[in-house]
Amino acid sequence: MSGDARKTAEKLAYLSGFGNEHSSEAVPGALPEGRNSPQRAPLGLYAEQLSGSAFTEPRANNRRSWLYRIRPSAAHPAFTRGGNGQLRTAPFNQTVPDPNRLRWNPLPEPGPGTDFLAGLWTLGGNGDATQRTGMAVHLYHANSSMERVFSDADGELLIVPERGGLLLRTEFGLLHAEPGHVALVPRGVRFRLELLDDSARGYVCENYGAPFQLPDLGPIGANGLANARDFMAPVAAYVDTEGPVEVVNKFCGNLWTATYDHSPLDVVAWHGNHVPYVYDLRRFNVIGTISYDHPDPSIFTVLTSPSDTPGLAGVDFVVFAPRWLVGEDTFRPPYFHRNVMSEYMGLIEGAYDAKAEGFVPGGGSLHNMMSAHGPDRETFERASAAELRPQKVDDGLAFMFETRWPLTLTPQAARAEHLQQGYDDVWQGLERHFRPLH
Ligand SMILES: [Fe+2]
Repeated sequence: MSGDARKTAEKLAYLSGFGNEHSSEAVPGALPEGRNSPQRAPLGLYAEQLSGSAFTEPRANNRRSWLYRIRPSAAHPAFTRGGNGQLRTAPFNQTVPDPNRLRWNPLPEPGPGTDFLAGLWTLGGNGDATQRTGMAVHLYHANSSMERVFSDADGELLIVPERGGLLLRTEFGLLHAEPGHVALVPRGVRFRLELLDDSARGYVCENYGAPFQLPDLGPIGANGLANARDFMAPVAAYVDTEGPVEVVNKFCGNLWTATYDHSPLDVVAWHGNHVPYVYDLRRFNVIGTISYDHPDPSIFTVLTSPSDTPGLAGVDFVVFAPRWLVGEDTFRPPYFHRNVMSEYMGLIEGAYDAKAEGFVPGGGSLHNMMSAHGPDRETFERASAAELRPQKVDDGLAFMFETRWPLTLTPQAARAEHLQQGYDDVWQGLERHFRPLH
């Protein structure tokens, strides 16, 4: 926590646009003109490419950035295995996949001096990080800024703060994320995360699969949902320090540590499209019915990680943002549902319109493949009897990680003290109303 860090965070400049070919230099003249790797890069910098896709992937999917740095990333000593803390990685096979509806309270308070990395606690996931498929759900609860630098070779990190502001010092520059924002750190990008408040709490989707992209819009047209221009990439900012820096690399499920003799956040200029972002979820352009029924919640997709099957996401990130409900003769909360996709939901603030109680900010629920879920009894009774005037739903910000495969829990999630008992009870007492006419 630092007042200086907050001042820094609040005056950051950004580059606008998702997937753009951005370029930025912290020192004029640091970016080479007209080529990527001149014989001698400007200002005595080293040129280095960071590839987020195979060289040969189609142009629309191709992701890479060129970094111009004080020392090349290759200048480091050997990594050695460290402890993994409460961080776990797919394949998840230590518990039996659970068909039950499950719900957790927020993580307990962390011990003193817990940084973001130490505060990461894996709930579960699917796929296999070494096969670059699937995803993991993590939560974090931290009370200390990171001194060390972290990068994740296993996937990109979608960080969803629920409590406490964050300043991300990345190789590409600085990003500021508050609750209600998300930060997206691509695979392999190094960063250090400073807390802007006493503690920080939230959620992380670690996406082992194809990088998140904006969903296609189909008949919606050229605009809507998350608009590309609202994604903010950093401008170049570098750290030029000598002296020991602990660098942690998550690789195929394990944390490996090396002590560098300089900061690896020493990128003076860069260009490319494999870059981190922040996005304010309140800028999401919510689209819904203006007649009857409501569309499937895919209409609330912010980002999607496509699979090899068109329309089938490895994972979708979906937000339930403030919106008007106007449907006529319509049960307006989310409907009763069984889904081939598996749904992990979290709450950033307020309340969610399908759950009257028990689903709290910082907590979460898991409705695994084909598990039956929907509004609780109280919500059903209220919504079935409500007078259907236009109604603003603006008292909460919930989200979902929706994934193609069932989520398997870690043992720590399956046995957590903060796993709620009796979640099934919210659907008890749904009365029989059937009245056959004959
Ligand atoms: Fe659902």
